[in-house]
Amino acid sequence: MEQTFRAAEGVLLVEGRVLRHLIKAHRHVKGLGLGVPHVHCYAMPRDALLRLASPEDLDPNVRNHLTRATDLRSVILVAKLSQADVSRLPPEEVTNKLWRAAFHARIHVEIEQRMDSGALLEATLRERIDRIGQTEFDEVREILRQDDLLLPPGGDREAYAEFLRSGTWPDKTMFILEIRRAETNVSINNGGHTQGDVALIEAAVKDTTRFASTGGWGYFDFGGRDRLAESAAPLPSTARCYACHSSHTAVDNTFVQFYPELFAVAKAKGTVKATYDPNRKP
Ligand code: HEC
Repeated sequence: MEQTFRAAEGVLLVEGRVLRHLIKAHRHVKGLGLGVPHVHCYAMPRDALLRLASPEDLDPNVRNHLTRATDLRSVILVAKLSQADVSRLPPEEVTNKLWRAAFHARIHVEIEQRMDSGALLEATLRERIDRIGQTEFDEVREILRQDDLLLPPGGDREAYAEFLRSGTWPDKTMFILEIRRAETNVSINNGGHTQGDVALIEAAVKDTTRFASTGGWGYFDFGGRDRLAESAAPLPSTARCYACHSSHTAVDNTFVQFYPELFAVAKAKGTVKATYDPNRKP
């Protein structure tokens, strides 16, 4: 039995049948059917996992590891992909799928923990949903229901959801900035500016391990429309991006100050940087 346990993230990769067995045991689902919710991923308290897992469910090394990991509250169980999927998909897509599943389970853990501790009340949740808008929220839920579509930090919507919960961007968040030329007097427009051709594509990636030496963020330049690159290496720390993004931003290297909805959340969560000064010009 080969199982991978990522201690840093508390993620354990198991066979699909093991996952189904554990979910059934934990949720007291009887019978042999496969109708188990969340078959790709499931978060379980560490103690429950150790108690419910049979010797066939858990690799002895993993069990030892988990027994010692006393500060780990819950373990995120992610089902391995089928052999068919693994051979069909490019390797990075396999990894993505697994992280996506782990991220999904992580959201459940966070929300449940907050509800258990009374930090997130039913009424607050309702209020937040109303603020997002029922139609929009239903749309989100529909996507969540499709399980695999909940992207890991990196997708706009999930990153935004993470942001709403924590007040800052989760690790692996990625921003793509598409800079376009401004056009005037297009069609009926004669006052403002409308979008023209792509002038530049830039990117920012939060990865606290990979970019530890530059405050957890890496910056990339993909060039403009005429010379748009397929891939780009991170720019050196001397590039202008790093200094401007670290010293003039309101929240975690990003210009949240220009987004009133996000800025309000950051203020409420207390994640606006002490160094942020709205009157300061470069
Ligand atoms: C003089 C300051 C300055 C420099 C230098 C700079 N930026 Fe930015 N950058 C900004 C501002 C201001 C915004 C916000 C624009 C907006 O949201 O409308 C921004 C936004 C971005 C975003 C969108 C996400 C975010 O952080 O808000 C990306 C991605 C980005 N810049 C990448 C880069 C890259 C790559 C470089 C270097 C090649 C760079 N920037 C250099 C000021 C700067």
